[in-house]
Amino acid sequence: MRASQDELKRQVAAAALENLAPRLSPGCVVGVGTGSTTNHFIDLLGGVGGQFGAAVSSSVASAERLTGHGIEVIDLNEADSLVAYVDGADEVALDNALIKGGGGAHTREKIVAAAADHFICIVDESKLVDTLGTFPLPVEVIPMARGSVARRLRELGGDPRHRADFITDNGNDVIDVHGLLLNDPAAWEALINNIPGVVENGIFAANRPQTVLVGSPSGVTLRE
Ligand code: 5RP
Repeated sequence: MRASQDELKRQVAAAALENLAPRLSPGCVVGVGTGSTTNHFIDLLGGVGGQFGAAVSSSVASAERLTGHGIEVIDLNEADSLVAYVDGADEVALDNALIKGGGGAHTREKIVAAAADHFICIVDESKLVDTLGTFPLPVEVIPMARGSVARRLRELGGDPRHRADFITDNGNDVIDVHGLLLNDPAAWEALINNIPGVVENGIFAANRPQTVLVGSPSGVTLRE
């Protein structure tokens, strides 16, 4: 029987824990992302609680799941270092640049990922693409700038759509930009972040994962 997408997410989460295990030591801090793939990882991390000290979370939702497993969640400002950051993605390009933010948590995700010694990205094979941009690019914006940012994104060739009934953990809005072909992700990341009112966009190119684990029906493969 063919594995379901959720089963692939669980498999790749288990592979992430295996990859992470040699980096763990009592007292160390692990960075944790957001989303359904990461939820599997959190559930598995709950089983090895004695092997690390605490977690830094990229969202309120993940923090609640972590504490539900008895894992101490600390503020990023309290952590001297993070041994690794583990998180999913919405798209992964051939050079391991990512689109993230389907769950609207990409700003905190980017902060925690950048603070970690190692970024492990976990995806099922449906997330692999040649070029980023089929998945609408999430852009977190200060609410008063939603209109002006949208106009600029339209000038850049995108089709910006306000994510209705959604507020980020930071109290901001999200615009999902359709129709951008992000063939130079690092340039697009900087360009969009330079629009006044943009808090952060979901391209992870300046800081991309060192390890990508991909779940497929034939097993988990590793890209570095
Ligand atoms: C949340 C994210 C998630 O990592 C991304 O949306 C993937 O989610 P899932 O694991 O549920 O497919 O960036 O902001």
